Amino acid sequence: MRPDPTDQFDVADQIVAFKRSLAPRRAVLRRAYVEVKNHISRAAEAILADSAAGRPIVPEVDYRHIKDGHVSDATRAAIRKTGCVVVRGVFPASVASAWFDELGEYLDTNRYEAREVEKRGLDKYFAALKAGRPQIFNVYWSKPQVRARQDAKLAETRGFLNHLWRHAGLFDPDRECTYADRVRRRQPGDETLGLSPHMDAGTVERWIDPGYQRVYRHVFAGDWRAYDPFDGTHRLDTREIPSPAVCSMFRTYQSWTALTRQGPGDGTLRLIPIAAGICYVLLRALEDDVPETDLCGAAPGRALGVSAEWHQEMMAGLVSIPEVQPGDTVFWHTDICHAVGDKHAGRDYASVIYIGSAPDCPKNRAYLPRQKEAFVAGRSAPDFAAMDFEVDFAGRATTGDLTPLGLAQMGF
Ligand SMILES: [Fe+2]
Repeated sequence: MRPDPTDQFDVADQIVAFKRSLAPRRAVLRRAYVEVKNHISRAAEAILADSAAGRPIVPEVDYRHIKDGHVSDATRAAIRKTGCVVVRGVFPASVASAWFDELGEYLDTNRYEAREVEKRGLDKYFAALKAGRPQIFNVYWSKPQVRARQDAKLAETRGFLNHLWRHAGLFDPDRECTYADRVRRRQPGDETLGLSPHMDAGTVERWIDPGYQRVYRHVFAGDWRAYDPFDGTHRLDTREIPSPAVCSMFRTYQSWTALTRQGPGDGTLRLIPIAAGICYVLLRALEDDVPETDLCGAAPGRALGVSAEWHQEMMAGLVSIPEVQPGDTVFWHTDICHAVGDKHAGRDYASVIYIGSAPDCPKNRAYLPRQKEAFVAGRSAPDFAAMDFEVDFAGRATTGDLTPLGLAQMGF
């Protein structure tokens, strides 16, 4: 079992040093915080007003419009402003529903749940989630997952969304590197899987890592309006503290593909659709009421929590995604705060395949060889707890199931 990497990182000294380095800019940062706090409050009020009036909050795009190049400038602007989007109909509903059934058979045939009970406890980071029957399944190489990841329509969708980023000389928006992730099959009535609001891709690193300091340089200079969440410059220079809770790849978006119908009340994704929210979180932690050794509770190697205790103005903007159908996809920018509903109050499984956007670049390519080995052997993907369920699973995907696109995305 791997040692707990978070034990090795006492970052209090680095936090203090960073805060002291900003002391000369204290007045400027204070003013910037008040500004961004007001901006976030207004954005959250607008979200609540839209919600109350039944207006859509998360932008929506039909896959066919991406394919035909007919996405309006207004929609593009909405995606950049909210940092998220629902793309409808990437896969036919019949295909996604069949994948849901096939995945269920794969898990049953290979006695997944019984085996998970035997291995329970390995993945201490998500131990709390394991109190009941599994809702997240640690499988990476079922045929439906592999087929979805290498699908040309999904590649087109990610290409379109990657092009919203400033990418010249940084990454290739039209080529993906596979980032194999898991499956959610949440049972109706489940109350174990809820995740409180958080951001992934690092916690304290966002303040103390030199790469992240460059990403957020305008924010830390007090000029938060100059910060562009979709500027990829320096994003590949960040160094995250290694942890099973942190993604080693650079993802332009986190994302999943729905295998079942799900929406508000179904224990699915909730978002704070405000791309500037990260500026507020960064500046909030520099205020005087936060202890000098602390960043609003940010803990190395975990997820970056957003809470009512520190982030009241932003928490007000937390909303459910709209109802989605099998074959729809949801994308959210890597700095977007998200959560999973505490209770699944619906009647049917809420199931997704997690498939993020990891465009081709040196950082992402560097992850592929280890992932490729894991695929061939049926082991867990390298970023995740080494549960290795699929090593002897019948019917898992092999290289013979990869299309030319799939082979390229996997680095073969
Ligand atoms: Fe997350």
